[in-house]
Amino acid sequence: MQNYEKHILTTRQFDRASLILLFEEALEMERVLAGGGNDLLKGRILASLFFEPSTRTRFSFETAMLRLGGSVISNYSMATTSSVQKKETLFDTGKVVSRFADVIVMRHPEVGSVAELARGSRVPVINGGDGPAEHPSQALLDLYTIWKERKSLDGVVIGMVGDLKNGRVPHSQCDLLKHFDCSFVFVAPEALAMPRGIVEELRESGHEVRETEDFGEAIGEMDVIGMTRVQEERFESKEEYAKYAGVYVLGKGEMGRARTGAIVLHPLPRVDEISPEIDEDPRCRYFEQVSNGVAIRMALLARVLG
Ligand code: NCD
Repeated sequence: MQNYEKHILTTRQFDRASLILLFEEALEMERVLAGGGNDLLKGRILASLFFEPSTRTRFSFETAMLRLGGSVISNYSMATTSSVQKKETLFDTGKVVSRFADVIVMRHPEVGSVAELARGSRVPVINGGDGPAEHPSQALLDLYTIWKERKSLDGVVIGMVGDLKNGRVPHSQCDLLKHFDCSFVFVAPEALAMPRGIVEELRESGHEVRETEDFGEAIGEMDVIGMTRVQEERFESKEEYAKYAGVYVLGKGEMGRARTGAIVLHPLPRVDEISPEIDEDPRCRYFEQVSNGVAIRMALLARVLG
């Protein structure tokens, strides 16, 4: 009774048409939310298994499930308090948890770990972030935020700024955005540049990609200013991280150079890369993204649970 096609493990499962359909379903979910929720998933259980810290991803999947009338079982310290501590494999954990729950969302520091648990699971598994590799639901809500704003993802100049090497969010965003006619400006220190494979895939599929280390020079070109955190936990040492901490900061000065119609995104948490002094700038969308994340995750849960 394997159910592989129902898992959401990677952005590679989406194409242009399925993305637009999902965004339309999320809009419908916003109407459900405005009415206080419904009973679509009454009697169904979500298990959230988190092996890495999370505020938004876990709470928003759980909120999405509760708003659709379902229930939640949750462990946010799986690494230290689950049987994985006793050397249970992720494959077996998938076999076991899928006898309790109807759907599983999981986050883990290792690339491919969520797929490994899904191999054992007989219910749909959703990737809530696997190491530096992928974070599909975050990228989906980011694209949804742009789509709502601009009514289209074509013709948009997408800026991505920060730790593009280790950030799973920019990786997943690129994989989804390649289905649209947009161009890219990547701003990162050389050592934290976007992986070559991603840049090549974008170029091969006809997208213009410009790379620079100079944020001040590039910000004026961007329709979307996609800020990201330097991913401290992926560095080998504190000293190595310290070289890049605070490398790009978006404050009032930088916003003065940004387009009037630009929008600022950030998956959050922010460290120091967006100054709170700009939070009230009408171009900033990072807290609105959090709300959009609930609607997108309601649409995802509704989809995988039929
Ligand atoms: C992101 C993540 O976990 O990759 N956070 C999130 O899910 N909103 C971004 C980050 O941690 O920098």
